[in-house]
Amino acid sequence: MFLKDQWYAVAWDRDIGGKPVGHTICGEKIVFYRKRDRSLVALEDCCPHRLFPLSQGSVHDDRLVCGYHGLTFAEGGQCVHMPSQDTINPNAHIRAYPVVERYRFIWVWIGDAALADPARIPALPWCADPAWAFDGGTYHTACDYRLVIDNLMDLTHETYVHATSIGQKELTEAPFDAKLVGDRAVVSRWTLNVEPPPFWVHNWKSKELVDRWQICEYSVPSVITIDVGVARAGTGAPQGDRSQGISATVINLITPETETSCLYHWGFARNFETDDQGLTARIREAQGGVFMEDIDVFVHQQQNILARPDRKMMSFNIDAGGVLARRLLDRALQNSASKAA
Ligand code: FES
Ligand SMILES: [Fe+2]
Repeated sequence: MFLKDQWYAVAWDRDIGGKPVGHTICGEKIVFYRKRDRSLVALEDCCPHRLFPLSQGSVHDDRLVCGYHGLTFAEGGQCVHMPSQDTINPNAHIRAYPVVERYRFIWVWIGDAALADPARIPALPWCADPAWAFDGGTYHTACDYRLVIDNLMDLTHETYVHATSIGQKELTEAPFDAKLVGDRAVVSRWTLNVEPPPFWVHNWKSKELVDRWQICEYSVPSVITIDVGVARAGTGAPQGDRSQGISATVINLITPETETSCLYHWGFARNFETDDQGLTARIREAQGGVFMEDIDVFVHQQQNILARPDRKMMSFNIDAGGVLARRLLDRALQNSASKAA
Protein backbone atom coordinates (compact mmCIF):
# COMPACT_ATOMS: atom_id res chain seq x y z
CA MET A 1 0.00 0.00 0.00
CA PHE A 2 1.42 3.37 -1.02
CA LEU A 3 0.84 6.79 0.43
CA LYS A 4 -1.02 8.94 -2.10
CA ASP A 5 -1.23 12.71 -2.40
CA GLN A 6 2.53 12.98 -2.17
CA TRP A 7 5.42 14.15 -4.31
CA TYR A 8 7.86 11.38 -5.17
CA ALA A 9 11.33 11.75 -6.67
CA VAL A 10 11.35 10.00 -10.04
CA ALA A 11 14.83 10.70 -11.36
CA TRP A 12 17.78 13.07 -11.32
CA ASP A 13 17.25 16.14 -13.50
CA ARG A 14 19.92 14.86 -15.95
CA ASP A 15 18.10 11.56 -16.49
CA ILE A 16 15.03 12.85 -18.32
CA GLY A 17 15.41 14.57 -21.67
CA GLY A 18 13.61 14.80 -24.99
CA LYS A 19 13.02 11.05 -25.32
CA PRO A 20 10.17 9.33 -23.47
CA VAL A 21 11.20 7.44 -20.34
CA GLY A 22 8.86 5.09 -18.50
CA HIS A 23 8.79 4.67 -14.73
CA THR A 24 6.52 2.87 -12.32
CA ILE A 25 5.80 5.04 -9.29
CA CYS A 26 3.60 3.62 -6.52
CA GLY A 27 2.33 1.02 -8.96
CA GLU A 28 1.37 3.61 -11.61
CA LYS A 29 3.06 3.45 -15.00
CA ILE A 30 4.02 6.94 -16.12
CA VAL A 31 5.96 8.25 -19.11
CA PHE A 32 8.13 11.35 -18.76
CA TYR A 33 9.82 13.64 -21.27
CA ARG A 34 11.00 17.20 -21.69
CA LYS A 35 9.70 19.67 -24.22
CA ARG A 36 12.10 21.80 -26.25
CA ASP A 37 11.87 24.56 -23.63
CA ARG A 38 13.03 21.94 -21.05
CA SER A 39 9.69 21.93 -19.24
CA LEU A 40 8.50 18.49 -18.18
CA VAL A 41 5.56 16.34 -19.20
CA ALA A 42 4.28 13.29 -17.29
CA LEU A 43 1.51 11.16 -18.81
CA GLU A 44 -0.07 7.79 -18.23
CA ASP A 45 2.19 5.26 -19.93
CA CYS A 46 -0.56 3.50 -21.85
CA CYS A 47 -2.00 4.31 -25.25
CA PRO A 48 -5.81 4.13 -25.07
CA HIS A 49 -5.94 2.51 -28.52
CA ARG A 50 -4.36 -0.91 -28.00
CA LEU A 51 -2.77 -0.25 -24.60
CA PHE A 52 0.79 -0.14 -25.90
CA PRO A 53 3.23 1.67 -23.54
CA LEU A 54 3.75 5.20 -24.78
CA SER A 55 7.28 5.14 -23.36
CA GLN A 56 8.08 2.92 -26.37
CA GLY A 57 7.10 5.76 -28.69
CA SER A 58 8.75 9.06 -29.54
CA VAL A 59 8.38 12.81 -29.12
CA HIS A 60 7.72 15.09 -32.10
CA ASP A 61 7.07 18.82 -31.78
CA ASP A 62 6.74 18.44 -28.00
CA ARG A 63 4.02 15.82 -28.42
CA LEU A 64 4.10 12.16 -27.54
CA VAL A 65 3.59 9.81 -30.48
CA CYS A 66 2.57 6.20 -29.86
CA GLY A 67 5.09 3.76 -31.31
CA TYR A 68 2.40 1.35 -32.53
CA HIS A 69 -0.02 3.30 -34.79
CA GLY A 70 0.89 6.92 -34.21
CA LEU A 71 -1.82 8.33 -31.93
CA THR A 72 -0.39 11.62 -30.72
CA PHE A 73 -0.92 13.29 -27.34
CA ALA A 74 -0.38 16.79 -26.05
CA GLU A 75 1.01 17.49 -22.59
CA GLY A 76 -2.43 17.65 -20.99
CA GLY A 77 -3.15 14.10 -22.15
CA GLN A 78 -5.57 15.02 -24.94
CA CYS A 79 -5.22 13.15 -28.23
CA VAL A 80 -4.38 15.59 -31.03
CA HIS A 81 -3.90 13.20 -33.93
CA MET A 82 -5.44 9.90 -35.02
CA PRO A 83 -4.10 8.28 -38.16
CA SER A 84 -6.51 7.76 -41.08
CA GLN A 85 -9.36 9.80 -39.66
CA ASP A 86 -10.29 13.46 -39.64
CA THR A 87 -12.11 13.53 -36.34
CA ILE A 88 -10.62 12.66 -33.00
CA ASN A 89 -12.48 10.39 -30.62
CA PRO A 90 -12.71 12.48 -27.43
CA ASN A 91 -12.47 9.36 -25.27
CA ALA A 92 -8.90 8.84 -26.41
CA HIS A 93 -7.56 10.84 -23.51
CA ILE A 94 -4.85 9.86 -21.04
CA ARG A 95 -4.12 11.05 -17.55
CA ALA A 96 -1.57 13.82 -17.03
CA TYR A 97 0.43 13.98 -13.80
CA PRO A 98 1.73 17.10 -12.06
CA VAL A 99 5.50 17.12 -12.46
CA VAL A 100 8.09 19.55 -11.09
CA GLU A 101 11.86 19.89 -11.24
CA ARG A 102 13.44 20.92 -7.95
CA TYR A 103 16.60 20.29 -5.93
CA ARG A 104 18.20 18.46 -8.89
CA PHE A 105 15.39 15.90 -9.00
CA ILE A 106 12.20 15.41 -10.99
CA TRP A 107 9.16 15.00 -8.77
CA VAL A 108 5.79 13.57 -9.70
CA TRP A 109 2.58 13.93 -7.73
CA ILE A 110 0.80 10.65 -7.04
CA GLY A 111 -2.80 11.17 -5.99
CA ASP A 112 -5.42 13.83 -6.57
CA ALA A 113 -3.90 16.30 -9.05
CA ALA A 114 -6.04 19.11 -7.63
CA LEU A 115 -4.04 18.87 -4.39
CA ALA A 116 -0.60 19.01 -6.01
CA ASP A 117 1.13 21.96 -4.39
CA PRO A 118 4.85 22.27 -5.24
CA ALA A 119 5.34 23.92 -1.84
CA ARG A 120 4.88 20.44 -0.37
CA ILE A 121 8.00 19.07 -2.08
CA PRO A 122 10.34 18.16 0.79
CA ALA A 123 12.82 20.96 1.47
CA LEU A 124 16.34 19.90 0.44
CA PRO A 125 18.19 23.23 0.48
CA TRP A 126 21.66 21.62 0.27
CA CYS A 127 20.86 20.25 -3.19
CA ALA A 128 20.29 23.61 -4.87
CA ASP A 129 22.49 26.00 -2.89
CA PRO A 130 25.74 26.96 -4.69
CA ALA A 131 27.46 27.01 -1.29
CA TRP A 132 27.18 23.22 -1.35
CA ALA A 133 28.50 20.66 -3.82
CA PHE A 134 25.97 17.92 -4.43
CA ASP A 135 25.91 14.78 -6.54
CA GLY A 136 24.83 11.18 -6.31
CA GLY A 137 23.05 8.41 -8.15
CA THR A 138 20.09 6.05 -8.23
CA TYR A 139 19.88 2.34 -7.53
CA HIS A 140 16.91 0.42 -8.84
CA THR A 141 16.40 -1.94 -5.93
CA ALA A 142 14.43 -5.16 -5.65
CA CYS A 143 12.96 -4.57 -2.21
CA ASP A 144 10.08 -3.01 -0.32
CA TYR A 145 11.06 0.66 0.05
CA ARG A 146 10.47 0.46 3.80
CA LEU A 147 13.50 -1.82 4.18
CA VAL A 148 15.64 1.09 3.00
CA ILE A 149 14.00 3.38 5.57
CA ASP A 150 14.71 0.87 8.37
CA ASN A 151 18.32 0.65 7.25
CA LEU A 152 18.94 4.39 7.17
CA MET A 153 17.35 4.98 10.55
CA ASP A 154 19.69 2.47 12.20
CA LEU A 155 23.27 3.18 11.27
CA THR A 156 24.74 0.53 13.58
CA HIS A 157 24.68 -1.63 10.45
CA GLU A 158 27.67 0.37 9.22
CA THR A 159 29.93 -1.59 11.55
CA TYR A 160 29.06 -4.82 9.74
CA VAL A 161 27.93 -3.86 6.24
CA HIS A 162 30.45 -1.07 5.65
CA ALA A 163 33.38 -2.27 7.73
CA THR A 164 36.00 -1.04 5.25
CA SER A 165 34.68 2.50 4.66
CA ILE A 166 32.45 4.24 7.17
CA GLY A 167 31.91 1.52 9.76
CA GLN A 168 33.62 1.41 13.13
CA LYS A 169 32.89 -0.74 16.15
CA GLU A 170 32.32 2.26 18.44
CA LEU A 171 29.13 3.01 16.47
CA THR A 172 27.39 0.01 17.96
CA GLU A 173 28.46 1.03 21.45
CA ALA A 174 27.67 4.75 21.33
CA PRO A 175 24.39 5.80 22.92
CA PHE A 176 21.79 7.23 20.60
CA ASP A 177 18.62 9.19 20.93
CA ALA A 178 15.51 8.44 18.87
CA LYS A 179 12.50 10.71 19.10
CA LEU A 180 9.68 12.36 17.21
CA VAL A 181 10.24 16.04 16.50
CA GLY A 182 7.05 17.47 15.03
CA ASP A 183 6.26 15.38 11.98
CA ARG A 184 9.75 13.89 11.79
CA ALA A 185 11.54 10.93 13.32
CA VAL A 186 15.06 11.87 14.40
CA VAL A 187 17.90 9.59 15.49
CA SER A 188 21.05 11.27 16.81
CA ARG A 189 24.25 9.45 17.56
CA TRP A 190 27.47 11.04 18.82
CA THR A 191 30.58 8.89 18.93
CA LEU A 192 33.12 10.77 21.00
CA ASN A 193 36.90 10.71 21.04
CA VAL A 194 37.36 8.01 18.38
CA GLU A 195 39.63 7.48 15.41
CA PRO A 196 37.95 8.70 12.23
CA PRO A 197 36.92 5.90 9.83
CA PRO A 198 38.64 5.75 6.40
CA PHE A 199 36.06 7.89 4.59
CA TRP A 200 36.56 10.79 6.98
CA VAL A 201 40.34 10.34 7.14
CA HIS A 202 40.39 10.94 3.38
CA ASN A 203 38.15 13.98 3.50
CA TRP A 204 39.21 15.54 6.76
CA LYS A 205 42.83 14.71 5.89
CA SER A 206 43.75 13.81 9.44
CA LYS A 207 43.82 10.80 11.71
CA GLU A 208 43.44 12.84 14.88
CA LEU A 209 40.79 11.66 17.30
CA VAL A 210 37.36 13.05 16.51
CA ASP A 211 33.87 13.50 17.81
CA ARG A 212 31.68 12.03 15.09
CA TRP A 213 27.98 12.66 14.55
CA GLN A 214 25.19 11.12 12.53
CA ILE A 215 21.76 12.72 12.80
CA CYS A 216 19.10 10.98 10.70
CA GLU A 217 15.79 12.71 9.98
CA TYR A 218 12.89 10.89 8.39
CA SER A 219 9.83 12.56 6.94
CA VAL A 220 6.82 11.03 5.24
CA PRO A 221 6.66 9.37 2.82
CA SER A 222 10.27 8.33 2.31
CA VAL A 223 12.78 11.15 2.63
CA ILE A 224 15.76 10.73 4.94
CA THR A 225 18.49 13.31 5.37
CA ILE A 226 21.53 12.47 7.45
CA ASP A 227 23.65 15.22 8.94
CA VAL A 228 27.12 13.65 9.24
CA GLY A 229 30.57 14.86 10.13
CA VAL A 230 33.61 14.81 12.35
CA ALA A 231 35.32 17.49 14.42
CA ARG A 232 38.52 17.48 16.43
CA ALA A 233 37.68 15.65 19.65
CA GLY A 234 36.70 17.80 22.59
CA THR A 235 36.28 21.06 20.66
CA GLY A 236 32.58 21.45 21.37
CA ALA A 237 30.87 19.91 18.35
CA PRO A 238 28.18 18.18 20.46
CA GLN A 239 27.39 21.59 21.98
CA GLY A 240 27.08 23.17 18.51
CA ASP A 241 30.59 24.39 17.64
CA ARG A 242 31.57 22.54 14.48
CA SER A 243 34.29 24.98 13.47
CA GLN A 244 37.02 22.38 14.08
CA GLY A 245 35.58 19.82 11.70
CA ILE A 246 33.77 19.14 8.46
CA SER A 247 30.22 18.09 7.81
CA ALA A 248 27.93 16.99 5.04
CA THR A 249 24.35 15.96 4.41
CA VAL A 250 23.49 12.58 2.96
CA ILE A 251 20.31 12.73 0.91
CA ASN A 252 18.11 9.65 0.53
CA LEU A 253 14.88 9.67 -1.48
CA ILE A 254 13.27 6.27 -1.65
CA THR A 255 10.46 6.05 -4.16
CA PRO A 256 8.25 2.97 -4.14
CA GLU A 257 7.86 1.36 -7.51
CA THR A 258 5.98 -1.83 -6.61
CA GLU A 259 5.46 -3.61 -3.29
CA THR A 260 8.85 -5.25 -3.75
CA SER A 261 10.89 -2.73 -5.71
CA CYS A 262 11.90 0.88 -5.40
CA LEU A 263 14.06 3.63 -6.82
CA TYR A 264 16.67 4.59 -4.29
CA HIS A 265 18.08 8.06 -5.06
CA TRP A 266 21.10 8.88 -2.95
CA GLY A 267 23.50 11.79 -2.83
CA PHE A 268 26.08 13.61 -0.77
CA ALA A 269 26.07 17.38 -0.23
CA ARG A 270 29.16 19.00 1.27
CA ASN A 271 30.15 22.55 2.04
CA PHE A 272 33.91 21.99 1.97
CA GLU A 273 36.13 22.16 -1.15
CA THR A 274 33.00 22.72 -3.19
CA ASP A 275 34.89 23.75 -6.34
CA ASP A 276 36.80 20.48 -6.51
CA GLN A 277 34.84 18.54 -9.13
CA GLY A 278 37.31 15.69 -8.93
CA LEU A 279 36.45 15.34 -5.25
CA THR A 280 32.74 15.41 -6.10
CA ALA A 281 33.28 12.56 -8.56
CA ARG A 282 35.41 10.56 -6.11
CA ILE A 283 32.88 10.96 -3.30
CA ARG A 284 30.08 9.92 -5.64
CA GLU A 285 31.99 6.81 -6.61
CA ALA A 286 32.84 6.01 -3.00
CA GLN A 287 29.27 6.58 -1.82
CA GLY A 288 27.96 4.48 -4.70
CA GLY A 289 30.24 1.65 -3.59
CA VAL A 290 29.22 1.93 0.05
CA PHE A 291 25.51 2.05 -0.78
CA MET A 292 25.80 -0.91 -3.13
CA GLU A 293 26.71 -2.91 -0.03
CA ASP A 294 23.30 -1.96 1.38
CA ILE A 295 21.54 -2.96 -1.86
CA ASP A 296 22.98 -6.41 -1.51
CA VAL A 297 21.50 -6.64 2.00
CA PHE A 298 18.06 -5.40 0.87
CA VAL A 299 17.79 -7.86 -2.00
CA HIS A 300 18.69 -10.85 0.16
CA GLN A 301 16.42 -9.63 2.94
CA GLN A 302 13.48 -9.24 0.53
CA GLN A 303 14.01 -12.73 -0.88
CA ASN A 304 13.87 -14.19 2.62
CA ILE A 305 10.77 -12.16 3.47
CA LEU A 306 8.98 -13.44 0.37
CA ALA A 307 10.04 -17.01 1.10
CA ARG A 308 8.70 -16.79 4.68
CA PRO A 309 5.36 -14.98 4.59
CA ASP A 310 4.54 -16.30 8.07
CA ARG A 311 7.58 -14.73 9.71
CA LYS A 312 7.58 -11.21 11.15
CA MET A 313 10.69 -9.12 11.62
CA MET A 314 11.71 -8.39 15.21
CA SER A 315 12.65 -4.97 16.55
CA PHE A 316 15.26 -4.35 19.21
CA ASN A 317 16.75 -1.23 20.79
CA ILE A 318 18.77 -0.38 17.69
CA ASP A 319 15.55 -0.25 15.64
CA ALA A 320 14.01 2.61 17.64
CA GLY A 321 14.45 5.14 14.82
CA GLY A 322 13.02 2.83 12.18
CA VAL A 323 10.09 1.98 14.43
CA LEU A 324 9.30 5.69 14.82
CA ALA A 325 9.59 6.26 11.07
CA ARG A 326 7.26 3.36 10.30
CA ARG A 327 4.84 4.68 12.91
CA LEU A 328 4.69 8.04 11.11
CA LEU A 329 4.24 6.32 7.76
CA ASP A 330 1.54 3.96 9.08
CA ARG A 331 -0.29 6.87 10.67
CA ALA A 332 -0.23 8.79 7.37
CA LEU A 333 -1.49 5.71 5.53
CA GLN A 334 -4.34 5.29 8.03
CA ASN A 335 -5.29 8.97 7.75
CA SER A 336 -5.27 8.70 3.99
CA ALA A 337 -7.41 5.53 4.09
CA SER A 338 -9.96 7.07 6.46
CA LYS A 339 -10.23 10.19 4.26
CA ALA A 340 -10.85 8.00 1.22
CA ALA A 341 -13.50 5.90 3.04
S1 FES B 1 -1.64 1.28 -29.64
FE1 FES B 1 -1.16 3.36 -29.67
S2 FES B 1 -1.80 4.04 -31.58
FE2 FES B 1 -2.37 1.97 -31.54
FE1 LIG C 1 24.39 1.45 4.79
